[in-house]
Amino acid sequence: MLVRLMYASRAAAGVDQDELVAIVRKSKTNNTTQGITGVLCMCLSERIFMQVLEGGRTAVNRLYNRIATDPRHTDVELMSYEEIGERRFAGWSMGQVNMSRLNPALLLKYSERPALDPYGVSGAVSMALFHELMATASIVGQP
Ligand SMILES: Cc1cc2nc3c(=O)[nH]c(=O)nc-3n(C[C@H](O)[C@H](O)[C@H](O)COP(=O)(O)O)c2cc1C
Repeated sequence: MLVRLMYASRAAAGVDQDELVAIVRKSKTNNTTQGITGVLCMCLSERIFMQVLEGGRTAVNRLYNRIATDPRHTDVELMSYEEIGERRFAGWSMGQVNMSRLNPALLLKYSERPALDPYGVSGAVSMALFHELMATASIVGQP
């Protein structure tokens, strides 16, 4: 039983690039053990996190509950939750999207302005954007 979950949140004050690196490093270790894959996207200018988690239902639900109480972000909002037949981010224990390399035309394709605003679009639209990011290889770091 596999599920895919997507949420958005706002980075807390003081959370910077170094903290993001620490979160991704820790996530890679924990997620590998738990069979969880996914991608974490942080837009440094707008201070928004978006994360997709895939894996066993129990493992994903437990992790989401833990992440939701992490003081390094606020306004954690569930955007999408679905049972899936196969993973889309199987190669990534936790990939990281470098927002400085995001193509404004790609953002405009799905939203009114060339900015990342998951609170203003549907979960389906955010998920579609993620898939295009994968296709255009904008994910950085070691799988
Ligand atoms: C935006 C964000 C994303 C996170 N993603 C993950 C994740 O994918 N996996 C993970 O284990 N922890 C993640 N964390 C960290 C968890 O909230 C928590 O600190 C960590 O899982 C605790 O791990 P530990 O019990 O091994 O110390 C994330 C935290 C934030 C703020």
